[in-house]
Amino acid sequence: MGVYFLLLFVGLCWGQYNPNTLPKRTSIVHLFEWRWQDIALECERYLAPNGFGGVQISPPNENVIITDPQQPWWERYQPVSYKLCTRSGNETEFIDMVTRCNNVGVHIYVDAVINHMCGANAGAGDHATCGSYFNAKTEDFPAVPYSGWDFNDHKCKSRSGNIEDYHDISQVRDCRLVSLLDLALGKDYVRSRIAEYLNHLIDIGVAGFRIDAAKHMWPEDVKAILDKLKDLNARWFPAGTKPFIYQEVIDLGGEPIKGSDYFGNGRVTEFKYGAKLGTVIRKWNGEKMAYLKNWGEGWGFVPSDRALVFVDNHDNQRGHGAGGSSILTFWDSRLYKMASGFMLAHPYGFTRVMSSFRWPRYFENGRDINDWVGPPSNADGSIKPVTINADTTCGNDWVCEHRWRQIKNMVIFRNVVDGEPFSNWWDNGSNQVAFGRGNKGFIIFNNDDWNMNVYVQTGLPAGTYCDVISGQKENNKCTGKQVFVSGDGMANFQINTDVEDPFIAIHVEAKL
Ligand SMILES: *[C@@H]1O[C@H](CO)[C@@H](O)[C@H](O)[C@H]1NC(C)=O
Ligand SMILES: *[C@@H]1O[C@H](CO)[C@@H](O)[C@H](O)[C@H]1NC(C)=O
Repeated sequence: MGVYFLLLFVGLCWGQYNPNTLPKRTSIVHLFEWRWQDIALECERYLAPNGFGGVQISPPNENVIITDPQQPWWERYQPVSYKLCTRSGNETEFIDMVTRCNNVGVHIYVDAVINHMCGANAGAGDHATCGSYFNAKTEDFPAVPYSGWDFNDHKCKSRSGNIEDYHDISQVRDCRLVSLLDLALGKDYVRSRIAEYLNHLIDIGVAGFRIDAAKHMWPEDVKAILDKLKDLNARWFPAGTKPFIYQEVIDLGGEPIKGSDYFGNGRVTEFKYGAKLGTVIRKWNGEKMAYLKNWGEGWGFVPSDRALVFVDNHDNQRGHGAGGSSILTFWDSRLYKMASGFMLAHPYGFTRVMSSFRWPRYFENGRDINDWVGPPSNADGSIKPVTINADTTCGNDWVCEHRWRQIKNMVIFRNVVDGEPFSNWWDNGSNQVAFGRGNKGFIIFNNDDWNMNVYVQTGLPAGTYCDVISGQKENNKCTGKQVFVSGDGMANFQINTDVEDPFIAIHVEAKL
């Protein structure tokens, strides 16, 4: 009776904050612009065996095809209908992906673009990924169907109809975000069409949603949509499980709309996290890693159990949405690995790893003029497959950061130390820092410009551990460095400044 009551309570009140990953699978990866058939394979051959909890996918619904510039990545943020066909694949392939990933315990999180439809200048015709007719000028989307009555034009009070002033809450939520036709989410008709779309995805077996552009919707409108959603598919999820919700709210401080406005619906993306971590690891503005001692809420972030965190995302890695030059990306691989290592070792937030494609980055006057370039594709516009090289890296310009040994091993580290407290912090007052996670794992960084040779308390049981950054444990041997922890938990760490990766991480499952 008591247990039943507890389960009921948890099911009713907490589902939207719970990531719905399997136990001891504590991170998801954003496979940005991947095809569904490649994601299905990746779940089976790589993500499940390496303890990834899930995949954030690119928007699966029909989008406008933009030809000037030629099929930019952001065309997928311009919906035409809720039919499941895009450059990533059709509905059959989508169902196959969700089924195969769920069957190996890797869950799918959909990027839900529900604030708006396509841009006001997208024209009229059937240049959409399923071939559906639409007319942006008359706001006609018969494949949903939406008509002019279903948009916020009358409600928006800015002169241009676009968002002009981010200090005006009504403008931010009722006007067009960079000309994208703003749906009237106050209408039950519109809410119902969106809920139908999301419930279709739930029926197929997805585990949750990233709510795109949540800041541009009234929290109560988002709630009204979420209230219409079903519980997750009982074939893979316990009865009564609600979809995981994480809302894209870009709140770097200084604007009236706050991440906390959305806590009633689920988690929010904490954009301060990557911006600040990048500043610290780059040692800009006088920042030092020693200051990370109170990382998390102590830095003004939202509460840990409301945060979805990441070093970079598909927007800010190319200077879009809350970009800023401090954001670390695969282009700065050495620092990026350190930042990812820190994020995955630290208990704050629910972690998302980025997995990117390479594009011809080209700066003119400090701006990347190729920030629009879409995924690796063939002459006919189809997305190139993700090929896998003999050394497990990816080909065809897929970066696959999630396959980098250092990042993959830290995803495993986070699973091993799950639930353990932040412990044994050490720093040298500068950029040499270390911390443990109870008696399960320990990590140490040297981001200073001089070599480090220290004895510190790890909190770990005595033994020989494999560093999972320079190598890993294979056949009961270490392929990289070894660390000897003595009976009192102390260990010696030497990290010279010229090593490939100036950090070391050990955990109890990489002990000889
Ligand atoms: C979906 O795509 C696959 C692979 O290209 C194709 O074989 C299949 O016929 C398509 N299904 C539908 C319903 O279009
Ligand atoms: C740590 O940094 C300080 C400067 O803050 C430096 O004097 C000291 O030698 C460093 N400690 C170690 C162990 O390298």
